[in-house]
Amino acid sequence: MTSGTGAGPGSGGAEAGSTTGGIAGHEAVRIYEVGPRDGLQNEARLVPTEDKRHFIELLAAAGLREIEATSFVSPRAVPQLGDADELVRSLPGDDGIRYPVLVPNARGLERAEGAGARSVAVFTAATDEFTRHNIGTSVAESLDAFGPVLERAGRLGWWRRAYVSTAFGCPYTGRVRPERAVAVALRLLDMDVDEVCFGDTIGVAVPTHVRALLARALEAGIPVSRIALHFHDTRGTALANVVAGLEAGVRCFDASAGGTGGCPYAPGAAGNLATEDLVFLLDGMGLAHGVDLSRLLAAARFIAGRLGRPLASKVGQAGGWDPDSGRSIDAGADAAV
Ligand code: HMG
Ligand code: MG
Repeated sequence: MTSGTGAGPGSGGAEAGSTTGGIAGHEAVRIYEVGPRDGLQNEARLVPTEDKRHFIELLAAAGLREIEATSFVSPRAVPQLGDADELVRSLPGDDGIRYPVLVPNARGLERAEGAGARSVAVFTAATDEFTRHNIGTSVAESLDAFGPVLERAGRLGWWRRAYVSTAFGCPYTGRVRPERAVAVALRLLDMDVDEVCFGDTIGVAVPTHVRALLARALEAGIPVSRIALHFHDTRGTALANVVAGLEAGVRCFDASAGGTGGCPYAPGAAGNLATEDLVFLLDGMGLAHGVDLSRLLAAARFIAGRLGRPLASKVGQAGGWDPDSGRSIDAGADAAV
């Protein structure tokens, strides 16, 4: 299954071709929700498992069909996700939603299997320095270690994604050339992953970088349908980067409800692109995605409340917009009208 279930109540109503600008084709866009995993992993305040479960239920009710649920990493490294086994065990197995989990090694896969997961994401990066901080190995060592993990997941019939973090810039070594990120992606595709996801881990990419990376990836023979993009909005460039991705043909974007997120091993990695900001953009462009903005805002407000802070995303504050009346919809309590 992939998401993009068509135009839901909040998915905009633009006529095909009328507002899609330079975006070729009108296939649905997959929104891959990372709030329960990337959104929470760096949060010091521990969120109870039942609240994480409720957050996931609210996201599903909003129409999200791919929800990265948690990570089977060392609980010492990421205490917030130490309840991964219990959380995954409590997820429905037959609701048509994909709940990928992050695994760093064979031990993680074993735990994921025991808990009943059925799709997995492995993660490495374009730079050795970040990878050493993140998982304690070089990129080459991580690729060697992921071979058997991905093979086992394949034998189990699981959907498999692989992240290439620091694809645009590294907090330890600076700007990353597209060739480096693409070379890692090619190795991962050789291991039969369904999708590679390029991560702007610390939010330093701008559209020209995205175009250059995608041009290189396509030149190297990577099908655009197997590429996803994961932007952190650290410096406010995530939505512009999404548009660059759309223009190059990418149709899967990661986002986190409420714009929470960060990586404990990437100093300066702030929130992910907020799902509600992405939904507003896609609605305005007339691109179907299947997510209801009002319900999504309810999910985002729920998790912001559990984290004890107001919703910081742009659309979380201003709300959606009704083009017939000109009024805001579901604006935050303190939004300007
Ligand atoms: P290590 O210490 O190098 O390895 O950790 P180790 O094999 O020596 O294990 C140390 C301890 O961890 C041992 O326990 C192991 O049993 C345990 P001890 O004997 O000390 O009590 N252990 C595990 N426990 C549970 N589950 C496991 C597991 N593996 C080992 N799977 C390790 C290596 C990778 C485990 C560790 O460094 C780790 O967990 N790191 C977490 C990394 C992480 O979660 N980073 C954030 C996600 S990546 C990201 O956010 C980027 C992304 O969003 C994309 C982007 O933005 O670009 C995806
Ligand atoms: Mg991330």
